[in-house]
Amino acid sequence: MSARPGRLAVNGPRLIADLQALGRIGRGPGGGIDRTSFSAADGEARAWLLARCAEAGLTVTADGIGNLIVSPVFAENIEALPAVWSGSHIDTVPNGGAFDGTLGVLAALECVRRIQEENLELARPVRLVVYTDEEGNYAHLFGSSALARGFSRAELEALTGRDGDRFAETFAAAGGDLDAAAATRLDPSTLHSTVELHIEQGPLLEEREHQIGVVTGIVALGGGVVSFVGRADHAGTTPMTRRQNALTGAGALLVALPELAAAVSDQAVITSGIVAVEPGSANVVPAVARVTVDFREARADRVAALEAAIVLESRAIAARYDLEVVMDFEITIPPTGLDTDIQSIIAEAAAARGLTFSSLPSGAGHDSQNMARLAPTGMIFVPSIGGRSHCPEENTAWPDVENGANVLLDTLLRLGRAV
Ligand code: GLV
Ligand code: MN
Ligand code: MN
Repeated sequence: MSARPGRLAVNGPRLIADLQALGRIGRGPGGGIDRTSFSAADGEARAWLLARCAEAGLTVTADGIGNLIVSPVFAENIEALPAVWSGSHIDTVPNGGAFDGTLGVLAALECVRRIQEENLELARPVRLVVYTDEEGNYAHLFGSSALARGFSRAELEALTGRDGDRFAETFAAAGGDLDAAAATRLDPSTLHSTVELHIEQGPLLEEREHQIGVVTGIVALGGGVVSFVGRADHAGTTPMTRRQNALTGAGALLVALPELAAAVSDQAVITSGIVAVEPGSANVVPAVARVTVDFREARADRVAALEAAIVLESRAIAARYDLEVVMDFEITIPPTGLDTDIQSIIAEAAAARGLTFSSLPSGAGHDSQNMARLAPTGMIFVPSIGGRSHCPEENTAWPDVENGANVLLDTLLRLGRAV
């Protein structure tokens, strides 16, 4: 452990060994990790985590949607008090990296293990939380959205995953109960505060040569599916002038996205990472093309402007190519300012450890943006090498991992002890 004498620290080698071990689960031959929520690999990762918790004498409970809450043993007089939560997610994007979410979970695991090992006296419980499906296979920030706003049974029944599977079926096959999922909410009076450690996933800390990022807020996040509907026809016999090719509409929308974003602001981003084509045959003119869009900006009104721009452009494209267009947008997750007192605690912890730090916003979505609606919430960033994330090259230097975990520990202890 690289602690200064007298200062409690995480067990760095143990945290690194955990990151390496969990990083082997779901890893493909090209080095990327596939742990889509509720996949076999996600289940294996959860089982691995439960084994680590059991080894450490931590108790684990799961809520109706599969969020895990992990607790050390606390004195009876504090056990029922509003708790400090810290955690993140262990599901990944397809072909993702070993640090996104996983770092926040394993660092918080390390913190609660140290609290247990040292039998620390606290004013309130400090618990680890592992959120279900942060990467939005079924819904953006799925597990924490359930805690903050809940999903009706009808909403849950309508959800489908990236592979087209129905959530209700996948969830039932994994042993889940849809009524329990629909009943999942968190009573905010049970929560004191939350803190999430995460990799930055962008280049700012590296450019600034800073070791710790104090996150000021998280951008607003919108998303949806634009479906162009044309007509299936024979690819060899239908003249080019007589086609209603849905994929031509999708292509035109994809080409227009950079301009639509730029017209709203220089901070706005729009991405399409999925285009589904039906019937999906080389010799059939596409009848349907569904373009999944993800759009973000720091200000909620600008996210609404992005959605409006996508709607207008899609209608114009549909008219140009003789198509119909159907649009289905998700509820926008509003921009989130993070708690300024917790920002100060994080900055003080970084300074006390002699680490360089600065403030920055998050362009990536995080469960913390839902949790901030329930309790004061803070986030700590550590640098991402080359700013890379959501790809196999995602990496953070081990000293940065350990520094981030120690700042998390200090922050959790301050929150856990404050009276
Ligand atoms: C999560 O990684 C997101 O920003 O979508
Ligand atoms: Mn991610
Ligand atoms: Mn993440």
